[in-house]
Amino acid sequence: MPRRVVQTDMTEAQEPDCCDLARVGVIVDEGDAHGNLIALLQRTQSEFGYVPEPAVDEIARLTGVRASRIYGIITFYAQFSTVPSGRHKIFVCHGTACHVAGATRICEALEQELDVPDGESTADMEFSLGSVACMGACSQAPVMRIDEETYGNLSADQTRKVIRGFVKELGLEAHYPGIKGAGATGGGGGDE
Ligand code: FES
Repeated sequence: MPRRVVQTDMTEAQEPDCCDLARVGVIVDEGDAHGNLIALLQRTQSEFGYVPEPAVDEIARLTGVRASRIYGIITFYAQFSTVPSGRHKIFVCHGTACHVAGATRICEALEQELDVPDGESTADMEFSLGSVACMGACSQAPVMRIDEETYGNLSADQTRKVIRGFVKELGLEAHYPGIKGAGATGGGGGDE
């Protein structure tokens, strides 16, 4: 069975008005923008589900940090996105250890189950699928993370079981005909 190996502090996306710049002001007021711009961006993304362009402009205006520097941070870290992303974030590790251990098969299983290409969000905006370089759990490779849960020692079949169970828990089977038909008991692709 896949093992949950670490806890992360990713926060579930919320859906306030992306143009509510007053919320950006509160985030900046409560933070130490110059001391920890990354934390400020994490809070912004937690608030809006992504980092909207107007929010970047507002952060730049309120902090005096140039927007180009803020975008530099956003593009450097895979955790940040400037486009709306799914409520639930799924990341597959494609670092060396995970790549060797079969990360590509894990990614393909998720793409098939959720009918979404890597790097994009499902049509219902419930899930985003992305890649990261290393989650720091190489001994458990291959590894994926769904929101705050990280799963290691995965096979493609185990990955299917995990995501089917998760979708079922959320009551979203009707959104994913393949999962609805297969249930949450695995199979439907097979490991190589
Ligand atoms: S390479 Fe995947 S956790 Fe390190």
